[in-house]
Amino acid sequence: MSLKKVFALALHIGVHLAALLPLVWLFWAVPAGELGGDPVEELIHFLGLGALRLLLLSLLIAPLVKYLQIAALFKLRRPLGLWAYTWASLHFFAWLALDLVFEWGLIAEEIIKRSYILLGFSLWLILSALALTSLPRLMRAMKGKWQTLHWWIYPAAIMGCIHFWWSLKSGWFEPAVYLLITLVLIALRKKKLLGATAR
Ligand code: HEM
Repeated sequence: MSLKKVFALALHIGVHLAALLPLVWLFWAVPAGELGGDPVEELIHFLGLGALRLLLLSLLIAPLVKYLQIAALFKLRRPLGLWAYTWASLHFFAWLALDLVFEWGLIAEEIIKRSYILLGFSLWLILSALALTSLPRLMRAMKGKWQTLHWWIYPAAIMGCIHFWWSLKSGWFEPAVYLLITLVLIALRKKKLLGATAR
């Protein structure tokens, strides 16, 4: 195996381990009481923040490839995006199962009544569409439409930061930093994005 291939494989394994190990850690941390006095709330926060970080990491790949000229990084976008979706779905599931214990009437009420939940839910629907269409067979079938759909990752990242900001009872600094990072990442792709929307 060439050195390039070993490097690409190591990057892949690194991404999978970095996304999987914190989830494995939860199996020990929850029963051991490591999540503090309100483990359900802490778990929802942990998974939500992890999803947003993975989403932003997936957006960081394109500028990194451009400036560092390491093409092997490109292949990390798909696993990072799919892991972001997995964490976001677990965040959603933790809320459904542990916070609202599958009370469907209450769940529907919360989604309609609380704007930040409605925003999170809309964002999750966008991520679901992106995850589903990242299957190689669908990618090929969609041709040019695939790229147009996948530009939605940028509004999705902004929505994630606003959902984060809105969910807080107090404070603004952390979500503001995430929003700033998102806007910088979008600015770095400005030319491509403007080209795509003009089409
Ligand atoms: C499926 C719909 C979703 C629901 C119902 C939902 C619900 C929630 C809830 C209940 C909270 C905690 C609010 C509190 O402090 O009490 C929260 C926080 C958060 N969510 Fe979501 N969410 C959803 C989707 C998402 C998605 C897709 C992302 C990211 C990609 C995300 C990222 C976050 C973040 C970053 C926080 C703040 C975590 C913190 O305070 O440390 N959420 N969400």
